[in-house]
Amino acid sequence: MGIDEGCREELGSLHGIPLYKSFIEGWPQVEAFQARHDDLLIATYPKSGTTWLSEILDMIYHDGDVEKCRRDAIFNRVPFLEMKGAHPTDPAPPGLLPGEGLGCPQVIYMARNPKDVVISYYYFYQMAKMHPDPGMLAEFLEAFMNGKVAYGSWYEHVRGWWEKRQEKQLLYLFYEDMKKDPRREVQKILQFLGKEVVEETVARILHHTSFQEMKKNPAANYETMPSSLMDHSLSPFMRKGISGDWKNHFTVAQNERFDRHYQQHMAGSDLCFQMEV
Ligand code: A3P
Repeated sequence: MGIDEGCREELGSLHGIPLYKSFIEGWPQVEAFQARHDDLLIATYPKSGTTWLSEILDMIYHDGDVEKCRRDAIFNRVPFLEMKGAHPTDPAPPGLLPGEGLGCPQVIYMARNPKDVVISYYYFYQMAKMHPDPGMLAEFLEAFMNGKVAYGSWYEHVRGWWEKRQEKQLLYLFYEDMKKDPRREVQKILQFLGKEVVEETVARILHHTSFQEMKKNPAANYETMPSSLMDHSLSPFMRKGISGDWKNHFTVAQNERFDRHYQQHMAGSDLCFQMEV
């Protein structure tokens, strides 16, 4: 059984990266994907703000028209290239592998600090039934640190894309910056896209893409997914939307171990993360 049946199963492996088997089956479609000159790729490691960034971009592309952005669920408006049966005709599909741009002329990457990512991912593993059972948090932390979770190593992903900055038109954003000053980050996106919008539109985009609004918006909060695939009673997709929630979950010992591991794996990189805002 695969993702469509909503039954937990072990991950497969694609080029050494753990991934849902049904996405691996759909991979030839990703390889065959031909980018148009005006395509934009959203690339993220899971739980880093993919849905948030997708909603912001859909609002920008629709000039802040809230009704148009309710036309369908976010995963259909901004499809995942690797999802079987996705029709990548919209301009902003999220990407998959570290540093792969699929020939898209423009890429926006969004990164989030790994401590919040792993906690968000742990809850997501519980509610989204395409994942194997995550077990206890301690176990899941180990799996995450070793890159043995869906989409592989967080370190390779964030570092791979960080290094791509020189070569291509790539805007590298951080979840924490977006939390701190969403207006400034939306302005950065607009500038990157070469779009000018009036202040009133910016205000509408910011309001519509706030956590509170997205949490109650069925077109953004994943509630339209069958509950056999995502069980929001276990943990809502729009869970907390904050930075620093890891502090409510990590033990002191886990935090120390994580910090050591982080330092080893980020050595030699000028990429820095804010663990809280
Ligand atoms: P938490 O589980 O920490 O709450 P992705 O879309 O990449 O799967 O990421 C999901 C994470 O982004 C979840 O984090 C979710 O709550 C958070 N998120 C989604 N929309 C958000 C928004 N508008 N503002 C802040 N966080 C948001």
